Amino acid sequence: MLIHNNFNLKALNTFGIESYAKYYIELNEEVEFKTLLTNSVFVNSEKLILGGGSNILFTKNFNGFVLHNKIKGINITEDSENYQIVKVGAGENWHEFVLWTIEHRLGGLENLSLIPGYVGASPMQNIGAYGVEIKDTFHQLEALDLNTGDKKVFSNNDCNFGYRESIFKNKVKNKYLITNVFFKLKKTPILNTSYGAINEELTKLNILKPTIKDVSNAVIKIRQSKLPNPKELGNAGSFFKNPEIDAEKHENLKKVFPKLVSYALPENKYKLAAGWLIEECGLKGFEINNAAVHVKQALVLVNKGNCSGKDVLELSNYVIQKVFNKFGVNLEREVNII
Ligand code: FAD
Ligand code: EPU
Repeated sequence: MLIHNNFNLKALNTFGIESYAKYYIELNEEVEFKTLLTNSVFVNSEKLILGGGSNILFTKNFNGFVLHNKIKGINITEDSENYQIVKVGAGENWHEFVLWTIEHRLGGLENLSLIPGYVGASPMQNIGAYGVEIKDTFHQLEALDLNTGDKKVFSNNDCNFGYRESIFKNKVKNKYLITNVFFKLKKTPILNTSYGAINEELTKLNILKPTIKDVSNAVIKIRQSKLPNPKELGNAGSFFKNPEIDAEKHENLKKVFPKLVSYALPENKYKLAAGWLIEECGLKGFEINNAAVHVKQALVLVNKGNCSGKDVLELSNYVIQKVFNKFGVNLEREVNII
C-alpha cells in the first residue's frame, strides 16, 4: 500500500476544487485495512473516506488521512424464486452497477440511473431520485469500525434511513468504513413511473409497455437535460435539501406566494422545491468569485472555474440568508462540508 503525502484531491471531487490531503491512500481490499491499523500515523490521524467525491465540498486542506475506497466486486449471494440478493463492493461505480442490474433483469434501481459516485456512499444519504430511494431495495451493509477494524453488519432498520439521511450522517458519523452493500432486487420488476416526467418521456418515445431498461433510459434523458455534467461544470448535484414544513406554515406561504411549488407528505407535512425558492429570490446565475447558482437549476451550485471551496460555502450562506429573509424557511445543505 502506497501512502502519498500532500496529495492533490482536485481530480477526485466533482466540484473540481483544489485541496490537499496530508496523507492519501487507495484501499483495494478489505484486508488492507487491518495492516493500516498497525501504522501509528494512520491510527492517530483524522480520517476521511472518499468515494467518487460527488457529494463533498473541500473548504480547506485535509490535515489527516484520506482513504479512497476502491473495493470492487458484484456477487449474487442469494437466489430465490422472486428475488436475488446482490453483494456489491463499496468502490464500484454506482451507475455501472445500476446498468449491471438492468442487464441481469433485476428490478428496483432503474430510477436511480446516472447518479454519480460509488456504491459505498449510496447509504450515506439514502440516495434518491424519481420517486425511489435506496432504502426501498437496500438489504444490509458491511462496515469496518475505523478504530478497531471490527466488522459490523447494519440491516435496513439499523440504518435509520430518511430523506437524504441515515445513521452514518448522524449517530455514527465518521465511525465506519462501508465495505459492501447488499441489495434485494426483484426478478419480476414493478415499475415506478409515478414521477410525471418519466411517463412523458416514455410517451415521447412511443413506448407503451416499458421495461426497466426503458425507464432507465428515460431517467438518463431527463437528468441530462436538467443537471450539469460535472466533467463540464464542477458541481455536486443539489447543494441543499428540499425543506419540509408543517401544514400551517404551508398554508400561510401559499397565501402570500400562490405559485409556491410543494408536495404533500404524510403526517400533514409538505416538501418545498428549494430550487423554486432560490429562483424566486432572483439568485439564478448569481455568483461570488466564480462560485455560482446554476442558471438552469437553482438548487445546484457550480464552480465556473477555479473557485475555492470557501467561495462555494460563502455563496451557500448567502442563498440560505436570502431564502430565509423572503420565506422564513431554513435551507439545509445536502453536500458534506470538509
Ligand atoms: P463522496 O462524495 O465521495 O462521499 C460522500 C460522503 O460519504 C462523505 O462524507 C464520505 O466521507 C462518505 N463516504 C463515501 N464512501 C464511504 C464509505 N465507503 N464508507 C463510509 N463513508 C463513506 N444524490 C442523490 O441522492 N440523488 C441524485 O439524484 C443525485 N444527483 C446528483 C447529480 C450530480 C450531477 C451530482 C454531481 C451529484 C448528485 N447526487 C445525487 C449526489 C451524489 O452523487 C450522491 O450523494 C453519491 O452517493 C455520492 O457518492 P460518492 O461516492 O461520490 O460520495
Ligand atoms: N424548480 C424551479 N427552479 C429551479 C429548479 C427547480 O422552479 O431552478 C422547481 C420546478 O418547479 C420543478 C421543481 O422545482 O418542478 C422540482 O425540480 P426538479 O424536478 O429538478 O427536482 P429537485 O427538487 O430540484 C430533487 C432531488 C434531486 C433528484 C431530483 C429528481 C433533492 C435535494 N434533490 O431535485 O437529487 O435527482 O429531485 O428526483 O431532493 C441530489 O440530491 O443531488 C439530486 C440531484
